[in-house]
Amino acid sequence: MFFSKKIVTMSLESAKKIASRQAVEDYLANNTIVGIGSGSTIVYAVEKISEIVKNLNWNIKCVPTSFQAKQLIHKHNLDLTDLETNPELDICFDGADEVDENLNLIKGGGGCLLQEKIVASCAKTLVIVADYSKDSTYLGEKYKKGIPLEVVPMCYSPILKKIQKRFGGTVSLRMAQAKAGPVVTDNGNFILDWFVFDKKLDWEKINLEIIQMPGIVETGLFINMAAKAYFGLVDGSVKTRKKPELTFK
Ligand code: A5P
Repeated sequence: MFFSKKIVTMSLESAKKIASRQAVEDYLANNTIVGIGSGSTIVYAVEKISEIVKNLNWNIKCVPTSFQAKQLIHKHNLDLTDLETNPELDICFDGADEVDENLNLIKGGGGCLLQEKIVASCAKTLVIVADYSKDSTYLGEKYKKGIPLEVVPMCYSPILKKIQKRFGGTVSLRMAQAKAGPVVTDNGNFILDWFVFDKKLDWEKINLEIIQMPGIVETGLFINMAAKAYFGLVDGSVKTRKKPELTFK
């Protein structure tokens, strides 16, 4: 006779969903202004926000970080606001391409890093929702597509060359999949992907240096911004990581 232990193996989609639902349950509060991130994981967070708003009749106003986020807010009949009306947010939920052990992030895999960083910087708390594939010890351990950099189109070529010369690695212009030519962001800019993961780098220092280059609009390095990350795991549980020095929940 065989006795088999039941092993739950979550798909990536299920892992995104459980992490998102848990994060929203823990952090969403009535009468708050909420930043809505971009990507495939945030979809599940917005679903959960919408359920709570409908069931409890809560007053939640949402600031989008992209065209996609705005569409999601509309789809779920949530109240849409902006930074002009609500310059201070209580919380921002967003996904990430990679989260390291110190909660530094790579973002921008979906090309929405500029508005994501602006909205997150206006929020008291940034909470990241992700599946197990995003959970890393150091940046570049699992995410192999490079650091996204949003640039003004006219200077993508000199910036590409300057970064390769200054820091090494390989920089490429992100090309669109269903359009001829490059990806154009929601802000009318181009995206460069900088692959440099064979080297150990001081990301905080590099980020500050890159951000000062004329023509760089923003980087996908989110350093010291996130307060907590939720990862959906293969066994159906949710793992969290938070900054030890912060007093958030
Ligand atoms: C959008 O440009 C990104 O910053 C996303 O937040 C990030 O790529 C995570 O997306 P997924 O939830 O689709 O993995």
